[in-house]
Amino acid sequence: MKILMVCLGNICRSPLAEGVLEYLVEKYGLDWKVDSAGTSNWHEGEPPHHRSVKIAKNHGIDISTQRSRPFTAGDMEQFDHIYVMDSQNYQDVKGIAGKLWNPSKVDLILNASLPGKNKSVPDPWFENTDKAFEHVYSLLLDACEVLIKQLQQNN
Ligand code: 4NP
Repeated sequence: MKILMVCLGNICRSPLAEGVLEYLVEKYGLDWKVDSAGTSNWHEGEPPHHRSVKIAKNHGIDISTQRSRPFTAGDMEQFDHIYVMDSQNYQDVKGIAGKLWNPSKVDLILNASLPGKNKSVPDPWFENTDKAFEHVYSLLLDACEVLIKQLQQNN
């Protein structure tokens, strides 16, 4: 199983999502590949935001070696499931995917923990406080705990 987490910059939210899911994948002894990407190339090659790195570290997860990369149409074929953080990411992924767009593979990540609500993971970039990043971490942990169980059942 190959899972891709997507946000705008691939430095705040999706690196945390990748780290959290990877942590759970290891915890449950699964042989899954987890990656993340951004719908922009604004931060390509950069490590995650220092607050994402710090919050993850506080929870025993090392995301410091991740590097930002842009989402490509090819990711639509490469990955089995693509989880986006907000509705703008969803539209952007659809646009980048073009002819390869496959809606059955893509969902808002919070639909795992809050089914059918189409809620977005708030972007902590502008608030830029530990509290905002901690809130993102907690939303992503809840969602990833649910989706790892769902994906195991449907596999
Ligand atoms: P992310 O947050 O999409 O969660 O990585 C952002 C990172 C950078 C910017 C916006 C959001 N930016 O405007 O550069």
